[in-house]
Amino acid sequence: MTQMRIIITGASSGLGEALALHYASNAHQLVLIARREERLQDVAQRCREKGAEVETIVADVNDFERMREIGSELSQDQIDRIILNAGVSVGHGGGVTPFEDFERVFKTNFLSVHALLEPIIPKLMEQKSGEIVFISSLASLFTMPTSIAYSSSKRALNAYAEGLYYQLKPHGITVMTIMPGFIESEMTQKNRFKMPFLMKTEEGIARIAHAIERTKIS
Ligand SMILES: NC(=O)c1ccc[n+]([C@@H]2O[C@H](COP(=O)([O-])OP(=O)(O)OC[C@H]3O[C@@H](n4cnc5c(N)ncnc54)[C@H](OP(=O)(O)O)[C@@H]3O)[C@@H](O)[C@H]2O)c1
Repeated sequence: MTQMRIIITGASSGLGEALALHYASNAHQLVLIARREERLQDVAQRCREKGAEVETIVADVNDFERMREIGSELSQDQIDRIILNAGVSVGHGGGVTPFEDFERVFKTNFLSVHALLEPIIPKLMEQKSGEIVFISSLASLFTMPTSIAYSSSKRALNAYAEGLYYQLKPHGITVMTIMPGFIESEMTQKNRFKMPFLMKTEEGIARIAHAIERTKIS
């Protein structure tokens, strides 16, 4: 397998951590982004032990100026794949969603994505190659009354991804949207309701990685 430079946001736990470890086994070059430094360094160290070259960036994706800077810095080198995975969920037991929760969820799950990609998209166009992977959710298709903000943010992400797909396909860039169901992670650990078809992290990641590999444009 050819060595790739892969950027993963939200790599300090859950799906992002598992994806980093998955790609580390193929000795890819990884750039891992998240806020919790100790967790991120721990993931990075385990990836290095598997043979990967790893750079870590401690950052809050809600700091949009910082995201744009990071996007520009990352664009100094080849970018083969970027996985937009950082995300948060908030649930409400039937009450009205507070505006502040709506704002936080939209910033993290949706707006931060374009702050980071804005400088990266021209780089990919110049390269005439690269893959953008959005980690959306099955919840983007089915909105529960208890997670309106989360589902709305993920549906907005789908629309954004769809637009980029058509915009970037003629430039040789693959854009894909993954919509997982429930997978074990810190996010799902917090859920107090029954999660149908809850998958072990390893199984979920194996399926996501498989979907990414087979979606490449020819
Ligand atoms: N698990 C599921 O069942 C499931 C299903 C469908 C979709 N998803 C999606 O999968 C993605 C990963 O979720 P997960 O289940 O793996 O949850 P998780 O274990 O809570 O991981 C979330 C990751 O996002 C990062 N993150 C959150 N807010 C951030 C911020 N402001 N700045 C930088 N990084 C931030 C966290 O890192 P720090 O806290 O260190 O910053 C963490 O690495 C999310 O987009 C989620 O919506 C998950």
